[in-house]
Amino acid sequence: MAEITTTDADTTERLGAGIADLLAPGDIVLLRGDLGAGKTTLVRGAARALGVEGPVTSPTFTIANQYAGRVPVAHLDAWRLGDVDDEEMGLALEAIGDEGVAFIEWPDSIAAGLPCARVAVDIDHGGGDTRVIRLTGSDAATDASLEALVDHLRA
Ligand SMILES: Nc1ncnc2c1ncn2[C@@H]1O[C@H](COP(=O)(O)OP(=O)(O)OP(=O)(O)O)[C@@H](O)[C@H]1O
Ligand SMILES: [Mg+2]
Repeated sequence: MAEITTTDADTTERLGAGIADLLAPGDIVLLRGDLGAGKTTLVRGAARALGVEGPVTSPTFTIANQYAGRVPVAHLDAWRLGDVDDEEMGLALEAIGDEGVAFIEWPDSIAAGLPCARVAVDIDHGGGDTRVIRLTGSDAATDASLEALVDHLRA
């Protein structure tokens, strides 16, 4: 687990970019945190680092936004999914695919049906522009990379 406190959206985007550098095709990143915590902000930074141009905003009316970066990038927001049925779960898995990377906000309704996440991001609103961001990797090597990343951003 690695933890960093950011005090501006820019740093959260840079954290997203750093996470993107650790990802390989097929990897999933889960993002948890209240409304306005900064999940989409972090995904925007990651998507930019993966070569996505143009706006990166939350998928509101579709289950996923899909972008052509250096690898396919899927951005899901499962917020409005309550009890997912098989069809919705199927659509989500289809959108995630297995050749690109996927970022999933509000993942808890679908998490049980997903492959293991490479990185789990938890963002706590600290008041004003302060956010406490915790990163948990799927294994010791990923955790070490995440710790190096936050050390680099703090420096
Ligand atoms: N340190 C920070 N990190 C991230 N965002 C910040 C920070 N400080 C201020 N902000 C602002 O907080 C807002 C975060 O919005 P964002 O859409 O990223 O949240 P979200 O977690 O995706 O919310 P939702 O659950 O509604 O999708 C943005 O307006 C951003 O500019
Ligand atoms: Mg969002």
